[in-house]
Amino acid sequence: MNILIIGSGGREHALGWKIKQSSKVEKLFFAPGNAGTSEIGTNLETSVSDFQLIKKLVLDNQINMVVVGPEVPLVEGIHDYFAGDEMLKNIKVVGPKKAGALLEGSKDFAKDFMLRNNIPTARYLTVSSENLKEGTAFLKTMTPPFVLKADGLAAGKGVLIIDSLEEAEKSLKEMLGGQFGAASSKVVIEEFLSGVEVSVFVITDGKSYKILPEAKDYKRIGEGDTGLNTGGMGAISPVPFATPEFMEKVETRIIQPTINGLQKENIEYNGFIFFGLINVNGNPFVIEYNVRMGDPETEAVILRVKSDFVDLLEGAATGTLHEKNIEIDPRTAVTVMLVSGGYPGSYEKGKKITGTGNVENSIVFHAGTQSHGNHVVTSGGRVISVSSYGLSVKEALEISYKNAEIIHFDKKYYRKDLGFDL
Ligand code: AMP
Ligand code: GLY
Repeated sequence: MNILIIGSGGREHALGWKIKQSSKVEKLFFAPGNAGTSEIGTNLETSVSDFQLIKKLVLDNQINMVVVGPEVPLVEGIHDYFAGDEMLKNIKVVGPKKAGALLEGSKDFAKDFMLRNNIPTARYLTVSSENLKEGTAFLKTMTPPFVLKADGLAAGKGVLIIDSLEEAEKSLKEMLGGQFGAASSKVVIEEFLSGVEVSVFVITDGKSYKILPEAKDYKRIGEGDTGLNTGGMGAISPVPFATPEFMEKVETRIIQPTINGLQKENIEYNGFIFFGLINVNGNPFVIEYNVRMGDPETEAVILRVKSDFVDLLEGAATGTLHEKNIEIDPRTAVTVMLVSGGYPGSYEKGKKITGTGNVENSIVFHAGTQSHGNHVVTSGGRVISVSSYGLSVKEALEISYKNAEIIHFDKKYYRKDLGFDL
């Protein structure tokens, strides 16, 4: 079959790398993709939100299955668009419809869903300009730090963690006043939870699910987890504290009630659920849901999926996931993200990338790259991720770090301390 992957990051390159290994694939396409994806498939130029153009590309290229990488087109209803179109309705789509995508698209919806379904999460209150007074009163009942979250999508920037009550009250007003546009017309105030985070992923058809390997992602730009938040500077899988006992709690207290909740509420769901969890004294709590795979977690996790991935994707898209098996590679997989100097602040683009051809024993996934004549240049903050297997975290990281040195571009930066906390 012909498969189209929507998106342009390291996640999409990694998904494509795995999909390409399946004997079920005839042609692989990316929309819009990057310089790396053009080496394993065909890039089709479009925005991920231009559903009309995507329709044309899908029909022109006789696509049979669409795998949606990022959250934006899902929240905007790409799956609903396909389901409602006479010419597209039989094409398989991996990614939830709008109703399911609200788990990521609205923090208020997600919190209320967890409350309704008894899923452990931080105590909270949703505030809008109508109940601002109630919001400030709620803040006074909490102990610092204060967690304020924009309800809607804010490109990963909508969560503020604030130490003083005064500052939190001020930020709450600013958020409601449009700091994140319409995304913060509602704000979720949440109790701060203290613990180590882990990303858990499932693929589901809304009834049956398979648990993919979990990962730990390193979000801060600086070593020792300091400095600004980024999209993610690297990831490690498996996560040592995610013991069978802990994962059993995750499955019974979080995964199963989530899938059951979706069914009870008649929300069809075909795709991935990413549970952003925090381990509070051995007990998992949900920090957030995402309705897609993580980036850069995918660049590590996908290395550990041994089964035919297209078979799983088909299962998720067609409600036959219960017939499928998932086999996991017991080895460790890590990914190290090479970023543009200055990121996550301002940075320059268009830097020539060299050395990727000399990499040995790692898999290189492109994120922010572009073809320029016959070479490849940087086109984003996160540029390239270097993924490796190992028998330990240390061994896998040593291989990725060795190859990270071989790849060159002006002002390249990466964290050299991944796994420091494990
Ligand atoms: P999110 O965008 O929801 O993933 O939040 C960004 C980051 O803020 C998370 O990865 C956590 O590190 C942190 N965070 C969010 N909610 C909480 C919370 N209730 N308690 C502690 N940290 C949180
Ligand atoms: N790595 C976190 C995310 O994809 O949201």
